[in-house]
Amino acid sequence: MRSIMFKNGVLYALDSSRLPHREVWLKLRNANQVASAIREMRIRGAPLIGVAAAYGLALEALKYRGKDANRLREIVLKTSEYLKSVRPTGRNLSWAIDRCLKAIEKEGAVDGIKKRLLEEAEKIANEDVETNLKIAKNGLEIIMDGDKILTHCNTGGLGTVEYGTALGIIRVAWEKGRRIFVIATETRPLLQGARLTAWELKKYGIPFKLICDSMAGYVMSMGMVNKVLVGADRILSTGHVANKIGTLTLAILAKHYGIPFYVAAPFSTFDFTTKPQEIPIEERSPEEVTHFAGRLVTVKDVEVINPAFDITPPELISGIITEKGVIRPPYSENIPKFINKS
Ligand code: MRU
Repeated sequence: MRSIMFKNGVLYALDSSRLPHREVWLKLRNANQVASAIREMRIRGAPLIGVAAAYGLALEALKYRGKDANRLREIVLKTSEYLKSVRPTGRNLSWAIDRCLKAIEKEGAVDGIKKRLLEEAEKIANEDVETNLKIAKNGLEIIMDGDKILTHCNTGGLGTVEYGTALGIIRVAWEKGRRIFVIATETRPLLQGARLTAWELKKYGIPFKLICDSMAGYVMSMGMVNKVLVGADRILSTGHVANKIGTLTLAILAKHYGIPFYVAAPFSTFDFTTKPQEIPIEERSPEEVTHFAGRLVTVKDVEVINPAFDITPPELISGIITEKGVIRPPYSENIPKFINKS
């Protein structure tokens, strides 16, 4: 089932913030509502954020009742900048928006701009599903019978249109008969692992156990994990990977225990211009750390560090699984070779 759908002028998205207890579908009618849903992480996961933003742009254009194409272009550009700023770390957001802007470059009429924006959003959404299936197929190369795979955050059908990236590989491997076992980290502070990955794994019938993030070293030291597989929000041409906070810790632990560490992501997550120190790391509200389930769990007025992502350096990564194949180190040399591969 798709986690996002456009029907009769309304964008329907499964509200991740309400899972696993309630399956609530958001009904979004303009770019502002889409932006709020992304900011509040009702829609999350880098690829899904990109798809939602593309639809958000189309919704905003469709609302325009005037006849002036230049005015509509101005609205679209302003909306683009706003949408791009909502969650800055994931590359897919600006990638999708730039793709939509390119699609209307040669459109001179209001109706043409509206039509092209919606078509492009639909295309990006459909391609996301196809791409994930290709990533899953390529990922089968690294998944063996008996694997005990640790995964972090949620990289499944809830962070993409369908299937997912790292979790998509796990799902397809299981469906193809690989007897695997998953260890899912809870993923503090927002518990995407406990709430979303556990929900998906249970639904697919894949055997798994849930751990607190701080237990990762213990489970690795006890031989309970033989592979780590995570997603990505931005991958640089150097092979640096920005992903959910805690990924770097897992990569360092995996290196220490000699456990292969894999990243799965589509090419829309790759950024060929930014340097590692320039990656914008989203800092989120202190309440996510000071509160648990709505209750203050620390002293009042405590200062907090709450980065949503961290950056894993290439020397800790065994391979990057993409729709074009599995990229191995040295990444600076090998990533460019994959760019034009079909
Ligand atoms: O803050 P989130 O939940 O949007 O972070 C999600 C991740 O870090 C995922 O690993 C990444 O976006 C890939 S989702 C297919």
